[in-house]
Amino acid sequence: MDHFSLREGALHCEDVPLAEIAAAVGTPVYVYSSATMVRHARVFRDAVAATSDPLVAFAVKANPNGAVLATLAREGLGADVVSIGEYRRAIAAGIPPERIIFSGVGKTADEMAYALTGGLLQFNLESVEEAEMMSAVASSLGVAAPVAFRVNPDVDARTHKKISTGGALSKFGVPIGDALEYYARARELPALDVQGVAVHIGSQLTDLAPLESAFGKVGKLIGELRVAGHDIRFADLGGGLGVPYDRDMPHPPGPQEYGAMVARITADWGVRLLFEPGRLIVANAGVLLSEVIRVKPGVGDPFVVVDAAMNDLMRPSLYDAYHAIDPVTPGNSQMTVNVVGPICESGDTFATGRRMGAVVAGDLVVFRTAGAYAATMASTYNSRPLTPEVMVSGDKFAVVRARQDIEELIRADKLPDWLG
Ligand code: LLP
Repeated sequence: MDHFSLREGALHCEDVPLAEIAAAVGTPVYVYSSATMVRHARVFRDAVAATSDPLVAFAVKANPNGAVLATLAREGLGADVVSIGEYRRAIAAGIPPERIIFSGVGKTADEMAYALTGGLLQFNLESVEEAEMMSAVASSLGVAAPVAFRVNPDVDARTHKKISTGGALSKFGVPIGDALEYYARARELPALDVQGVAVHIGSQLTDLAPLESAFGKVGKLIGELRVAGHDIRFADLGGGLGVPYDRDMPHPPGPQEYGAMVARITADWGVRLLFEPGRLIVANAGVLLSEVIRVKPGVGDPFVVVDAAMNDLMRPSLYDAYHAIDPVTPGNSQMTVNVVGPICESGDTFATGRRMGAVVAGDLVVFRTAGAYAATMASTYNSRPLTPEVMVSGDKFAVVRARQDIEELIRADKLPDWLG
């Protein structure tokens, strides 16, 4: 459920007409509903509340905007971070260090030192080489690093191949079959507190079966690790639960079904569970608001050329992802069109042969489900400045990231002295 709805024929975010935001801030612009994020955070927290003292750590990569993080921090969420940038943004937004998990296959010594100094709940390690570096860094700081290994359970997550991470040949995690050896090696290292196990098999999962299969393997491993004398207190079950993008497709399983499955599988684990949802919390809390520049006739379906482009919202171009596109003031008629941006390549296509509410030049449209992996994946390709972000709360709205100034883009380039 989200808080974008039609009132008197015009699409609103909570109590604010989207047309009012477009008039004040210009387009394209991302618009976030804080009530929707708060609701999703609470629904997820309630869904896993039956497990013992769970920590819900928002996957910052989904939407690192400071206002988003501060909203979720107030709901008591922690953060799953994968870079020093995300770590610092989480801290800046008021997320306490003891609610931060540091994931990622390529942590550098500098990142390890920074997070060890600032504090965190757990690093999820992905190799013995990383464990060795972690121990050396922690030793040099005179501390013990709290760590888990992210295991690769070799299950097929049945999602888009670019966001599937739990297959044996993927770059992520350590093979679960060899995990006992990895833990034995880590125990020999002087400055590690080996406290947990972590798993994450992919994103936009629309079926609980692969998750259940992965968690079953993790439960078995926890038993084996205890027999081998490891004091396992945490299990990080990652993120991955999908959200509905296409109204005409069956909805993915919801947080309640996920929570019930987790409670059942983990009942006898005797650990604190950690969760890293990203998309589920923020995806449907955001839209990309854009203006139709013109409708260009084609040999086939006409092209609706909008002022947003693949640099603003990369998901359709990168993953053939579906985003519903709706007029902000819908009429009664429909049309079948191709929705494209102004960028000079064919990949700048949001939808092909799409049946949608009819629009003409100057109309506003929204791309739905654009609160996750959207603004954060934007680039300045074609020298298009980064899109601003607006947050709505009730009848108020605020710009939470300003539109990038083209002057800034130009100034960021430095001429070498031979051209000066
Ligand atoms: N934990 C780890 C270790 C992850 O790698 C991810 C996402 C998450 C948690 C959060 O997963 P979520 O609950 O959001 O599914 N850019 C892609 C998605 C990439 C996901 C990467 N990892 C997209 O736009 O679909």
